[in-house]
Amino acid sequence: MAFPEGFLWGGAVSAGQYEGGWNEDGRGPCRMDYTTGGTRTSPRFVTYVDAEGKPVKAGREAPLPAGARWASLDDCYYPNQVAVDGYHRWREDVDLFAEMGFKVFRMSIGWSRLFPTGTEAEPNRAGVEFYREMFTYMREKGIEPLVTLMHFDTPLGLDEACGGWGNRELIDHFVRFVTTCFLEYKGLVHYWLTINEINNALSLIDFLGNASDEGYQATYQLLHHQFLASAKAVQIGHAIDADNKVGCMIASAATYPHTCDPADILAAEHKRQENAYYCGDVQVFGAYPTYAKRLWDAHDVHIKMEETDLDVLAEGVVDFYTFSYYNSNVVTTHEVTDTVGGNFQVGARNEYLTYSDWGWAMDPMGLQWQLEVLYDRYQIPLMVVENGLGAFDEVVEEAGEKRVHDPYRIDYLRQHVRAMETAIANGVDLWGYTPWGCVDLVSMGTGEMRKRYGFVYVDMDDEGKGTLDRCRKDSFWWYQRCIASNGAEL
Ligand code: BG6
Repeated sequence: MAFPEGFLWGGAVSAGQYEGGWNEDGRGPCRMDYTTGGTRTSPRFVTYVDAEGKPVKAGREAPLPAGARWASLDDCYYPNQVAVDGYHRWREDVDLFAEMGFKVFRMSIGWSRLFPTGTEAEPNRAGVEFYREMFTYMREKGIEPLVTLMHFDTPLGLDEACGGWGNRELIDHFVRFVTTCFLEYKGLVHYWLTINEINNALSLIDFLGNASDEGYQATYQLLHHQFLASAKAVQIGHAIDADNKVGCMIASAATYPHTCDPADILAAEHKRQENAYYCGDVQVFGAYPTYAKRLWDAHDVHIKMEETDLDVLAEGVVDFYTFSYYNSNVVTTHEVTDTVGGNFQVGARNEYLTYSDWGWAMDPMGLQWQLEVLYDRYQIPLMVVENGLGAFDEVVEEAGEKRVHDPYRIDYLRQHVRAMETAIANGVDLWGYTPWGCVDLVSMGTGEMRKRYGFVYVDMDDEGKGTLDRCRKDSFWWYQRCIASNGAEL
């Protein structure tokens, strides 16, 4: 049997997409809370009231202009404010995870639940106790927490006070937050991830086409700050509890050349270096890679560093490497007419693959390839901490019960589990698997509820209507069998 004993089967969510309770018990806001719902073809916006009192919808990453204030507008819906109400229903969800046999549950700590504006000297006790209760209950149920320290939810107060991660001061605020987490949850949590999909900042400017030299300068600089913050978190985590394992988290779509034209091969490799390896290499090897100079020179980037920065990176290397894997992309230097679109899906269409309803290439063999290539490169344990199929689900009433028949999801997951099995048989040290959105939650890319990933269905639609009741999908029973048989019964 390929899957080792003790393999960590589970599922994953993030605070901002799962919890809701956005302004309860002292929690402060983050950008997601003021981000509207969208669809595959219509973007999400952030909203504010400008200095003259005029309501404004602006691009998701837009800064707040002087004199403006963040605001919820009457004609907009903000799906993350309620999300799937995990803040009140987490116990019921943990019970369902335990029923499926989860060994691990990946979740994140909402930074602004602990530090409402990010600048406070002391944490909000209600926030601290919320997560303590949850971790304690999970452990009682035999579920190990795997905790992401930051999952796209820097407190808005830090944007306002210091302008976000472009400002070096963010490192100190992050350090205060993570130190609190490591101290408060010592003994309750042993597996930590520092920053979710840290490399998204780079792939996003690629994807948004916002590729001015200034944009690259700002992105590489903010990444430098995040690398330092992450490296310090690793050191603090180890110092507080030698049993802590602290990992990185990289968005890891496989990238292929479209043809065997050497120019395509090189372009695909360069894209991989920029979008995936750059961040992983710094966090695993503790130093900037050789090709960083080429990437920086291409956009005249000069990173401002302090004298000890490179030592901090070298001393804060991660214990394990985790990544999300949903799809693959194709890169070419040639003109192509058959292209794909959809959030995070770019470039030429791959004629060998089929695509999800949201335009993402479904590519299980790409996961095997990723696992083998990444393990060969890094030689530290890996974990697949996000994977899954975002799909439309339909609830049917059968024998007085609500059911969701989702063979498409089972099929997707089965093929990806097999890909992991082969990679393990080929020598990869894989610790675990936490499919994304194990309970339905708000899509990060589009803000939709109808893009569902879960084993557990949540009655909530894209306008905020629904009872929020949970029901088990067919995939729930499939995953339960998969876990019980340690991956043998698929
Ligand atoms: C990853 C993120 O990018 O992909 C998650 O870490 C996100 O937060 C997931 O939800 C799936 O993307 P989407 O757009 O379908 O929610």
